[in-house]
Amino acid sequence: MTILVTGGAGFIGSNFVLDWLRSSDEPVVNLDALTYAGNLENLASLKDDARHVFVQGDICDRALVDQLLATHRPRAIVHFAAESHVDRSIHGPGAFMRTNVEGTFTLLEAARAYWGTLEGETRDGFRFHHVSTDEVYGSLQPQDPPFSETNPYEPNSPYSASKAASDHLVRAWHHTYGLPVVTTNCSNNYGPYHFPEKLIPLMIVNALAGKPLPVYGDGQQIRDWLYVTDHCSGIRAVLAGGRVGETYNIGGWNEKANIDIVRTVCALLDELRPDAAGPYSRLITYVKDRPGHDRRYAIDARKIERELGWRPAETFETGIRKTVQWYLSNEDWVARVQSGAYRDWVSKQYGAGQTN
Ligand code: NAD
Ligand code: DAU
Repeated sequence: MTILVTGGAGFIGSNFVLDWLRSSDEPVVNLDALTYAGNLENLASLKDDARHVFVQGDICDRALVDQLLATHRPRAIVHFAAESHVDRSIHGPGAFMRTNVEGTFTLLEAARAYWGTLEGETRDGFRFHHVSTDEVYGSLQPQDPPFSETNPYEPNSPYSASKAASDHLVRAWHHTYGLPVVTTNCSNNYGPYHFPEKLIPLMIVNALAGKPLPVYGDGQQIRDWLYVTDHCSGIRAVLAGGRVGETYNIGGWNEKANIDIVRTVCALLDELRPDAAGPYSRLITYVKDRPGHDRRYAIDARKIERELGWRPAETFETGIRKTVQWYLSNEDWVARVQSGAYRDWVSKQYGAGQTN
């Protein structure tokens, strides 16, 4: 048995592949285009591991996806590949439409053709697991209940609109063609290998460099933070036991205002890497708000708990401490990401094209 993972060199995808191969011997074929967000160095520990087959390629490339499905005959596709950064989607929405919408469409069509060739238990057991976001539900008011799976879709950014479109495609491919899909909508992740364009890693690396910590607007926007390995275990639970055609929300039961996140990061750095110039919070700088900025996200994760017994293992206190410690212990990784040197990793380590 084998699974095909897309986007497995990104932040969550690479954590998922590492986590998967820590807890199982089932091989992973990892299809990733290695955009700016893909970093094979995250998977360096798998360099000589035959259970991991890396293929550099685009999910919009139907012939490639067909060939991978025919060759490796996976029992499941776990689809992470996406353009994921809201700010980038505001500056350049085109890439989001292409990868998130057209890419998901291409994968669905390839999966449908492949699934059509399967028979018996192999056909029944096949899954297309679509990894999505809580942002598709829009923005909550302070007194609103958290997002449940029945909330209407109200995406507000080009990113969330593209993810909402992809969720609708996945739903329709199940409803119309019977493709056995499951979708998970997760809240904000944090942890190792998080690209330092996103709030938590950006605050850590800027603080260590003595640079301003840019807080958008009044800093009172709320997100529901989940440690990345908890997201990975939630995906594994849904892949193993989720009901076909259903969606499951995954969240951390952990709503925090952005400014509180930034202050927590500063306090941990004060403890673990004190700066002679004074507390890191001196670097906090309020800047112009993100256009269309969603005010609050929060996830009601009772369905996945009720049906599959999943709950996050980390509290925010344990998860954020591990995260800050990881960045302090991996300053070379940060330096290579910041200099762009991580992009040389593939050719340096593996040569071009398919590898493991
Ligand atoms: P990321 O930006 O860190 O990684 C995305 C990966 O996809 C990269 O490795 C990139 O090279 C690859 N990729 C991009 N375009 C591709 C293409 N056309 N073909 C093949 N590969 C391509 O993203 P992430 O934060 O790890 O998010 C992974 C998934 O989880 C996304 O679908 C995202 O919408 C979803 N999600 C993310 C979060 C979060 O907090 N980061 C929360 C909920 C859901
Ligand atoms: O909710 C899930 C989503 O979480 C995922 O679907 C996205 O892929 C992921 O990028 C993330 O989106 P956000 O926009 O919530 O994450 P980001 O880290 O960009 O921002 C978190 C909050 O911090 C948000 O309210 C904007 C704010 N922010 C962000 C940056 C980068 C700042 O105040 N300053 C910053 O410099």
